[in-house]
Parts: sequence; structure tokens; C-alpha cells
Amino acid sequence: MHDWDASADLLAHSVIGYAIERLKLAKPTVWGARPASELTDLLRGSISPGGLGGHEALRLFRDELMPACRPMDDPLNLAYVPAAPTVAATMFDLVVSASSIFAGMWEAGAGAIAAENEALAWLVGLAGMPSGAGGCFVSGGSAANLSALVTARHAHAQRHPRPSRYCIAATDEVHASVRAAANVMDVDVVFVDVDDHDRMTGDALHSALEAAARENRTGVFAVVASAGTTNAGAVDHLDQIADVCAERELWLHVDGAYGLAALCAPSARPRLAGIELADSFGVDPHKWLYTPYDCAALIYRDPSLATRAHSQHGAYLEAVDRGEWNPADFAYHLSRRARGLPLWFSLATYGTAAYEAAIEATLSTARALAAEIRNREGFELLLDPDLSIVLFRLHGWTSPRYHAWSQDRATTGVTLVVPTTWHGETCLRMCIIDPRTTIEMLCGILDDLTTS
Ligand SMILES: Cc1ncc(COP(=O)(O)O)c(C=O)c1O
Repeated sequence: MHDWDASADLLAHSVIGYAIERLKLAKPTVWGARPASELTDLLRGSISPGGLGGHEALRLFRDELMPACRPMDDPLNLAYVPAAPTVAATMFDLVVSASSIFAGMWEAGAGAIAAENEALAWLVGLAGMPSGAGGCFVSGGSAANLSALVTARHAHAQRHPRPSRYCIAATDEVHASVRAAANVMDVDVVFVDVDDHDRMTGDALHSALEAAARENRTGVFAVVASAGTTNAGAVDHLDQIADVCAERELWLHVDGAYGLAALCAPSARPRLAGIELADSFGVDPHKWLYTPYDCAALIYRDPSLATRAHSQHGAYLEAVDRGEWNPADFAYHLSRRARGLPLWFSLATYGTAAYEAAIEATLSTARALAAEIRNREGFELLLDPDLSIVLFRLHGWTSPRYHAWSQDRATTGVTLVVPTTWHGETCLRMCIIDPRTTIEMLCGILDDLTTS
């Protein structure tokens, strides 16, 4: 083996030492983006014929570059969908890299793929899908949505003549990545109205499909339902939508990138009823299932349909045994790291009961926050949370005031709470996925808002 570094052991210890130090950081001090020009100056000369040496490069990363990144695992980062990876999952991510596994094909990565499949089977079980269901891990919810929709269209094309335009049906609240997938695939979106809780209902879907048919938009091949919209955490009526899809032979894909983690929590499961009827769904362990980036689980009711849509062929690939479980065949990718292993290791380390407890804790914190807001003078809860996203406004506050408060608290490192809009009006949004985020911490933020 090429001797890259005579002091490789020392460097490995330093790098792992940094990783442990970073993991122990309960609440990073004020970290956040810096102007590109400053970072370019810091990095000047870091790539040179002689190199900096690993220790100096690590110092540069630890002292300068890492603090210029937002700490997504801060329990008071409540913006977008934050992260809270477990120690086991994060450390195992290092192990995955060190193990040099090609996890695209069974013959190369069988041991790792078998463990990934255990984690997928756990999700299949939670969703109540039949035991033949399965899939693979991809980089994120965007990749899961695109890969599922490519499979759906391919399956449709096997059974029906090609329409003048293919379409998917979804609400306006669906994640941007679904519209992006439609763009990439050159398909249209038939928009379905939401109810006053931002949810798609079976009736609204039925009406939208009837209206589309009247306009000769008959190429609808799939419905994308949201199990947890990113803005409001709203869960579409999956059971009603599944009925409409069954009647019309439409593929039902459920985007649960954020919200389907709540399948672990008995208190949330009734809201997710109907997921067992989906043809495919995605859920991001890097969001609310406590793994590091980047990791999304993509599950198909009938994985063979995905294989037909996605298998890549070429002279050098013909020796691959297509009878085996090859994750490369289930999505738009070929080479892949075994990115589901950190989830498997975390589940194996702590047990599924710990996952249930952690997710129940975040749900009850979100419910307690909603109750607190409902009872506070000057605050207005905008909708009862389906999951762990809480939207609210303050009487008399204008959009610039929300933004100024948010910016100030972000730069001083107090909390990251970013305004959004709901029904055209600016409001505040908190997304709680970290069991270390307590109601006391959140009440502290509400107190701060009251006196700001
Ligand atoms: C509901 C939903 N779908 C899809 C995505 C996209 O996922 P990713 O960023 O992992 O590609 C997100 C991201 O926040 C999301 O919340």
C-alpha cells in the first residue's frame, strides 16, 4: 500500500480525537456562515504541491472552518428540519468510511447491505407494509422522491399507452423537491387543494383529478402525499388518498422525509393511518431518526418495479448477479456508501424502545409548546401540530420585526428560529426533533419574545 503518511497513526488519532471532542460539545458557541472572501483567504495555500500536512489541515478545519458552519445538532436550532444524530450513529459513520465498502451490489457489500436491510425491514414493519417490501438508502428526501416517481412512471408506462403529458398530483404544500423531480422528469403537476389544516383529503384529490380530466390532462400516473409538510408538519389524509389511488390505479408515493419517523411513536401512528397502502415512501433518518447526513430510506411495496426502472446495464456490469439484492437497482445511483449502516448500528446499540421514547419525547414537547402558546397573552397558535412543527404568531408583530428578532438571536447564538409564512402571513415556526430540547428551554424563547 502506498505510504501516504509516515505518521498515519498519529493523524488517525488526532482526527478521531477531534470527532469525539465535537460530539461532546453540548452547545456550540456562536457558529455560523462567514463571507466567502474571508474563508477563501483562510484557505489560500491549503492545496499546494507540498500540502499542509494533516495536523495543520485539521487545525484549520477545527478552528476556522467548522465554526463557519451552523451547528445543526444544537438543541435550540429549531429552524428548517434540524439534526440530532446519536453518538453511535455518528461514530459508525466514521467506521463506514474506514471500511471501504461498495454497497451498490450484493456481491461487493453483502454484509453491510444485509444490515441496512434490517433497518429497512424495521421501517417496513412500522409502516405495516407486507414483508416483501424494501428498497435502499439514498442521499436524501429529494433523491428518494425522484427515484420513486421514476419507478412509478415506468410502472405506468408498462400498462398504459403514453399520454401527451405525464402528470403527478400533489398539493401546493408538497416539498420543493417534488416539484424539482417533476421538472427533471418533464412531467406536469396537477395541484390539489388543501383543507384548512394544510392537508390533502380524498375528496379534494378526487375533485382535482376530475377537473384535470375535463382539461384533458389525463396522464396522471402518481399522487404524492405528504406525511409531514416541511412548513407546517401537516399530514395528508393518507387513508382517503390511498382509496382514491386504488380506485384509479394510481401510484401513491408518500413523502415522509421529515414526518414518517413518527411511525416509531404510538401516539402519532393513528395520524399516519394509510401509510401501509402506499406504493412507495421515503423517510430521512438524517432528520428525525438520529443519524448523521446524508441518509434517506426509500421503500417500495414491490421492489421489483424499481429494479425494472433503475437497473443500470453495460458491458462491465453484465457479470452482476441480478437475482441478488442490489441497492443500486432501486434508485437513481450506482456507486454508493452503506449510508444506512449508522442507522442500523444506532438501532442495534440503543434498541427500538429508545427510538420510541426519544420521538415520543419530542412530540410531547411540541404539544406542550402548542398548549403554552395557546394560553399565552399576545400569542396565537396557528394550527394544532400534527407532529412536531409548531406555527404561531405574535399580535402586533410585523414581518420586519420577526426577521430582526430571528437574525439577532441567530447571531448571538441564543436560538435559531426562522420566520415563515402561513396563509400569506409571516409567523414563527419551531421544528422539534431533539429529545434534549425541553419545554423549559422553549418557554425561555417565548419569554424572550414577550419582552422583545
Ligand atoms: C418533506 C420533505 N421532503 C423532502 C425533503 C428533501 O430532503 P433532502 O433535503 O434530504 O433532499 C425535505 C427536506 O427538508 C422535506 O422536509
